[in-house]
Amino acid sequence: MIDFDAARAILRSNDLGGYTVPTRGLYPFQWNWDSAITALGWHRFDEGRAWREARTMFSGQWDNGLLPHILFHHEADSYFPGSEIWGANSRIPSSTISQPPVWALAVARMLERSSAGDAARAEARGLLPKIVAHHRWWYRDRDPGGSGLVESYHPWESGMDNSPAWDGPLARVPRVEWEYQRRDLGHVDQAQRPSRREYDRYLYLIEFLKHNEFDPCRLSAGSPYRVVDIATVSILHRATRELIGLCRQFDLESAVAELEAELARTQQAVNACWSAEHRCFLNLDKVSGAPLRERTTATLLPLFGLLADAEQASQMAALVEEWLTASRFSLASTHPESPRYESQRYWRGPVWLHINWMIADGLRAYGFDDLAARVKAETRRCVEAAGGYFEYYCSRTGKGCGGGDFSWTAAVALFWLAD
Ligand code: DGY
Repeated sequence: MIDFDAARAILRSNDLGGYTVPTRGLYPFQWNWDSAITALGWHRFDEGRAWREARTMFSGQWDNGLLPHILFHHEADSYFPGSEIWGANSRIPSSTISQPPVWALAVARMLERSSAGDAARAEARGLLPKIVAHHRWWYRDRDPGGSGLVESYHPWESGMDNSPAWDGPLARVPRVEWEYQRRDLGHVDQAQRPSRREYDRYLYLIEFLKHNEFDPCRLSAGSPYRVVDIATVSILHRATRELIGLCRQFDLESAVAELEAELARTQQAVNACWSAEHRCFLNLDKVSGAPLRERTTATLLPLFGLLADAEQASQMAALVEEWLTASRFSLASTHPESPRYESQRYWRGPVWLHINWMIADGLRAYGFDDLAARVKAETRRCVEAAGGYFEYYCSRTGKGCGGGDFSWTAAVALFWLAD
């Protein structure tokens, strides 16, 4: 049995007053997409607190619309790299990249389910111009050429840090030569975290962003790491659809035509990522121009983005069935047949609840209700097997991995598994 009281208790104990840390120690600040998903969990038992989470996040938005992936609201030596490494010149110390934009979707869902009437409408109205500015930032600063497919310049921007899809593009990035001490390994077993080789390159890219003054044209022209992350493309697309609905509801018609044009551009461009051979949409390496052939759960998210046509969706549904069978527990984040699959190592194979929720939501949208229910039932089995809310779960044994008492996992249980 799943203990939903324990899920609520985790959000309360990770609440630092206006924002929720993903977990204590390992991630002691406010993370962007964690926070959006956590707000959906808060909303099931404390609506006011959910809106406050959103307000705190957007208080750290940059003037150009960027919503940073981390807001360093205070100092903490349990995490590396801290704000001094990133070099942002922002109101609230922050990182200099973003994360998959879930906020429009979170706000739309919160508004729909709200019992708070005018108060909730006032919250949504206050956030709306900021969310529009954030989507504009994605389309402008992460797609300077107007291709319809936003790019990312750091694996952390995808939120799927050490996905095997990034191995090739990341191998091209030089390694930093200075000494540093990782803090994540003080909290989590090395076998469940990215390698030193990857960290050296993550840090190089942080310095590269800084030396190029975060200028989108310089990044797009010169970054050694430039990928189209199909998960971000899909989440952005779905969130923009939700955002258009919000703009209509709140008479912000001025943004609608522009956002619709972005949807059309992406819808047209996304077919370049479709692979009939792999039966999913692939990530792209923008430096070499080659598709990244690794099947990770990112490649299924066009279902959530409502970007697939009916034939593509049914091919993807067949793939999901096989994938579920190949993963002993739920949907492994990398297909278990891949030679790069590692059942416990962060984004190289473990099960992540929020991604499974998105995939199930997408399957339902295309009419695959039974399969969506199976994804949900198997995800629930993970939480039950592990007996708690972990950052992710081993897809072979169901064992809890990464950080414990994890906010977004508890939140997804509250707004998805509890339904
Ligand atoms: C980390 O530090 O592992 C984070 O995922 C970066 O956002």
